[in-house]
Parts: sequence; structure tokens; C-alpha cells
Amino acid sequence: MRALVIGSGGREHAVVEALRRDPDVMDVHAAPGNPGMGSIAELHPLAATDGAAAAELARQLSADLVVVGPELPLMTGVADAVRNRGIPCFGPSAEAAVIEGSKAFAKDVMRAAGIPTATAVVCERAADVQAALDQFGPPYVVKDDGLAAGKGVLVTSDRVAAVAHAAACGKVVIEEYLDGPELSLFGICDGEIVLPMQPAQDFKRLRDRDEGPNTGGMGAYTPLPWVSSDLRDEVTARVLRPAAVELAKRGMPFSGLLYAGLALTSSGVKVVEFNARFGDPETQALLAVLDTPLGGLLHAAATGGLSGVPALLWSSDAAVTVVAAAAGYPEAPMTGALISGVEAAEALGVVSVHHAGTTLTSGGQLCVAGGRVLAVTAKGSDLQEARRGAYNGIEQIFFEGMQVRRDIALRTTAVQS
Ligand code: AMP
Ligand code: GLY
Repeated sequence: MRALVIGSGGREHAVVEALRRDPDVMDVHAAPGNPGMGSIAELHPLAATDGAAAAELARQLSADLVVVGPELPLMTGVADAVRNRGIPCFGPSAEAAVIEGSKAFAKDVMRAAGIPTATAVVCERAADVQAALDQFGPPYVVKDDGLAAGKGVLVTSDRVAAVAHAAACGKVVIEEYLDGPELSLFGICDGEIVLPMQPAQDFKRLRDRDEGPNTGGMGAYTPLPWVSSDLRDEVTARVLRPAAVELAKRGMPFSGLLYAGLALTSSGVKVVEFNARFGDPETQALLAVLDTPLGGLLHAAATGGLSGVPALLWSSDAAVTVVAAAAGYPEAPMTGALISGVEAAEALGVVSVHHAGTTLTSGGQLCVAGGRVLAVTAKGSDLQEARRGAYNGIEQIFFEGMQVRRDIALRTTAVQS
């Protein structure tokens, strides 16, 4: 099999790496990719949201499988363009990806399918915002309806800040505050059948102890020792499958990765959000311990063939991922700082360094080019060992202003949020 991965983030780097481990995948290409992917895949220049160019590249390469990583290309129909050329593509149609692209649409799907989630009100006018804030009380949860790269949600007890965020966003979803720890559960879907992955946890806040602003994710780990073994089946039955059935009923079957962000509240599991693609950085941790070969799995999903795929196989190892972010992230990442130590980290053996916001200077030196710069993932026989490996890897890496959380997977026996 020849695979083409569209995107340039840490998640896509991890997908490329996992595809390379699949003995049935002989060749992996990435577009546009990043310097890290360049050492394990052939890179092709591409504007990731240009569906016609992606489809043409896939045709030229005689790709048997295209994987579209990020949400923006999905929302702009890159998967549709590839599929329209008759090439198997892992990633939902632009129509189905709206489950991520509009929080109001996601709420409507959940209401219709009876999926447990926070009660919510969609507001477009200032007066409605005030009424909704009164209805739910503090802490207030105010969400931009559209895509905002993990930065559209404000959770605050400060009413003035809640009103200001709503005004800045335009159309917002205001909803009930969900207590309890969060986890991510991903379903591989072929439009009909859903195969759940094992749960992972993401650390969304910038700083230790869940302080600071929301980010795209500062670290992750899997498995979750504090989650019951029944949870995967429960979420598949009550969340992932009903969502897939509802989307199919609406004529927009979901083929790709359906991401359920969940809260384990005092009144049971509830959906915080849906995404239409692999989570970043949960994917870096999950793919490190997925034993099922990824190419065959994603190809089966892309061709409606998941009925022939058994339950996913997982290593008994744990995996921990720690992100190194640029100075100023998430508000205004500073680019240009030189990065050192990536080879030293990789030389530790148990560590993978996945590139995201990196580029090469004209002199060939690695430097910072985006908010989340690198993610270091390590496996271990348990979470403590994996954690030690990941932080040993991070210790090797340096760039000016590097921001790293020190508490990823620190309290894995206690429930955390
Ligand atoms: P989202 O983009 O919807 O996942 O929201 C980003 C983050 O905001 C989530 O991971 C939660 O930490 C927080 N959040 C979102 N919705 C709620 C809610 N209803 N109650 C409490 N926290 C929330
Ligand atoms: N880690 C959160 C996300 O990918 O949206």
C-alpha cells in the first residue's frame, strides 16, 4: 500500500510513523509535512486546504490511501475531492466534519440522537447572552460556534469576561458547566461501523495544575488507570454509535475519526465536544501503543470495510506525550528561535519526537515556526516509566522561551481534570 498523509502537525507526524510500521505499507508520502516527517516520508509542497491539488497529488503518486489530518482541510472538502477521484480517503466529508466545525450543529445532532451532553443555548444577540448566563449561573461556559483552534472556549466565573468573549465571537453556545475529569475517546468509523480506541487524557490548559489559558493540548497519556474497563463500551453505545447513526440518517455518513471529548460528571459521562479528526497530542500517545497495523485499519475505514476488522489490539505498555510550546503560545507564539537537542532525545531510544511548529532556516538549522513546536512521546511498562522517558527526552531539547508542563501524567491514580 502507498499512503499519503495531508497535514503538517505532530499528529500527522505520528500517523506517518505508525504507517511506516505497518508491513503492508511500502511507501509513505506527506504534504506539506514538516522537517521531522521529512526523514521518514517523501514530502510534497501543498496548501493543505487545496482539495483539487491534494487529489491530483494522490493520483500522481498512485496512492492507495489518503489520510487527511487537520480540521481545516476536512472542513474545506479535501476528503471529498480525493474520494471523488475514486481514491480511498480516511477523513469525513465537509458536511460530516461540521460536527466539529459548528458547536450548534453538534448540539443538534446530540439532541436528536439522545447523546448525553451539557444543556446549551445558542445565542447570536447580546440580550440572549445575558439571559443564558443567568439561566446557567457561574462558572460560565461560553463557546465560539466555529473553529477556533482550541481557543474559542472560555470557562470563567467572571461575568464581564464571559460577556466580552461572547461579544468577540458573534454566534456562541452557552452551556451548563460540567464537573469531573475529562478524557478523550476516539472512534474509527466507516460511515456505519465504529471501532473504539482506548481512552486517553489530554491536558488542555497551558500551565501546571490546569492553570492558564486553554490550548490545543500540552500533553497526553494512555491508558487511564482511573477509568473503568466498561467505559469504552458505554461510550461506544451511548455516544459514538448514536452520532454515526444520526449523521448517516441525515445523509452525511461519517467516515474517519470521530473524537468524543468527554467529562465524567457526577451524573454520568457527558460529551464536552466532538471533533472530526485525530486529537493532538492524544494521537501521539495512542499510536505508540496501538498494535493493530494502522494502514490496513484506516484503509478498511476508508472503504467501508470495518465489519471485517476485529477489535483493535493494544500493547500492554503505557505512553506519555509532553508538548514543547513556543514563547507566547497560545496568544501570540514567537517564531524563529533555534531548536537544539532533538537528536539527543531520539538517541535515548524509547522516545519519539514529533514535529509540529518547526521549520529549517536557510542554513539548515531547525527553528520554531508555530505555537506547539514539538511533542515528545515515550512508552514504558507503566505510566511512571513512560513519564520518566518522556521528560528525559524533553530535558534534552532546548529553544528560547520553551513552555512545557511538568505535571503530565503525574497523578494517574487519582482522578484529575
Ligand atoms: P471544547 O473546545 O468544547 O473541548 O472546550 C475546551 C475545553 O473547555 C474543554 O476541554 C473543557 O476543559 C472546557 N469545557 C468545555 N465545555 C465545558 C463545560 N460544559 N463545562 C466545563 N468545562 C468545559
Ligand atoms: N487535544 C485536543 C484536540 O485535538 O482537539
